[in-house]
Amino acid sequence: MWAMDGVMGKASVYLETFGCQMNVADAERAATGLRAAGYELIQQVEEADVVLLNTCSVRARAEAKVYSRVGEVKHGQRKNSQLIGVMGCVAQLEGEAVFDHAPAVGLVVGTRATDRLPLLIERARAGEKQVSDLGEREEGEEWNVSPVERHSPYIAFVPIIEGCNKFCSYCIVPFSRGRERSRPAAEIIAEVEKLKNLGYREIHLIGQNVNSYRPRLESGLENFKGATPFSRLLRAVAATGMERIKFTTSFPRDFHSDIVQAIDENVNLCNWVHLPVQSGSDRVLRAMRRGHKASDYLARVAAIKNSRRRLALTSDIIVGFPGETTGEIGETVQLIEQCEYDSLYIFKYSPRARTPAALLLDDISEEEKAARFAMVEEAQRRVQKSIYNNYIGTSVNVLVERESTRSASDLMGHSTCHKIVNFRGGKDLIGKTVDVRVTEIKVNSLYGELV
Ligand code: 5AD
Ligand code: SF4
Repeated sequence: MWAMDGVMGKASVYLETFGCQMNVADAERAATGLRAAGYELIQQVEEADVVLLNTCSVRARAEAKVYSRVGEVKHGQRKNSQLIGVMGCVAQLEGEAVFDHAPAVGLVVGTRATDRLPLLIERARAGEKQVSDLGEREEGEEWNVSPVERHSPYIAFVPIIEGCNKFCSYCIVPFSRGRERSRPAAEIIAEVEKLKNLGYREIHLIGQNVNSYRPRLESGLENFKGATPFSRLLRAVAATGMERIKFTTSFPRDFHSDIVQAIDENVNLCNWVHLPVQSGSDRVLRAMRRGHKASDYLARVAAIKNSRRRLALTSDIIVGFPGETTGEIGETVQLIEQCEYDSLYIFKYSPRARTPAALLLDDISEEEKAARFAMVEEAQRRVQKSIYNNYIGTSVNVLVERESTRSASDLMGHSTCHKIVNFRGGKDLIGKTVDVRVTEIKVNSLYGELV
């Protein structure tokens, strides 16, 4: 095969992503820019001229994975000239220290330098050693993603806010992703309209704290009511007629009742809210600098539970925060029972350098963290079973994503309430929305039959 492998020619890029939806969205944006600049994106890591690892640093284990993955890539290399680049959160936090940790790496690209990737790769391929860019996004940069780079042909991630200003004491995100920056509303609405015309059936408005959305100019939101810019954005996005709209993650302190009202008034705003609480103890919440007490959180939950449609509620919990007592983890269990979560993500506390909590003694042993994890998991399992049981005999609307991994004659998709649903059906239904009657519950999914 004839292939130009020069600096300006069609170098091939393999891009691998770890972590959250924001990283997935950033990978889509990076791939769009690279392809536009003439790079070819390929799936075979060994064959690639450039390997980019798009990294996560939210917990220590995610970060360790980056360095072991660099080692694997280096080991499997067929081309000596292969350039390995680290982008995403670890790149932003570690900067040039990545080169010391992993000398095989030749390129470090921070979380806001995505659009400069083609130029940075060019510099590295022209012979410059250890190229790095931890700079900010440039004025006027838009979030351009071409449909071929999207992670799904039916579901699209639409970032509305980047970064975080909350500085919860355990969290690295404000350091890895910088201050909150909201995308202009008109740009978001235009993107959703375009996605709808392309046949996308579901979008996820994403951001570390979507409900802290605060654009510099309100353009595009003027005609929509609501106390907060986020609820006005929700209404504006709903008005595009996109079939299903989900949003994640919400921050409790900024979760005002106008968001619930917007959901109540627009059926295409899906019946699911992800509202991380982290702990049920006021002392721990204060030490975490969350800016809310358990009772404030429960008031938000009450508004969600009082909505016209039943809104599914999910959350995140951290167990083993420094100094957490057995009584305090008991309060967390109690809160889980009160909130009746549809699903829960549980994490063992992991100290992150530079965060305020890293100065506290990480005094809960690994075994004790594991025991608390199991305790919280068990409580959630009980709660979830009874919630899921209520679905038996009811119909849920499912966007069919693919064949089930368990059985080739089954399909898999998510309901509007964001539960995994499996049911018997033919491949022709993939990409469609269908109603499924729930006949059976599993630990983390529903099973049913086509209505
Ligand atoms: N240790 C453990 N879990 C963490 N999270 C964020 N930082 C840490 C940390 N240092 C969890 C929080 C957050 C989710 C995305 O990750 O629960 O909501
Ligand atoms: Fe981290 Fe808190 Fe910001 Fe969430 S709100 S990203 S937990 S600092």
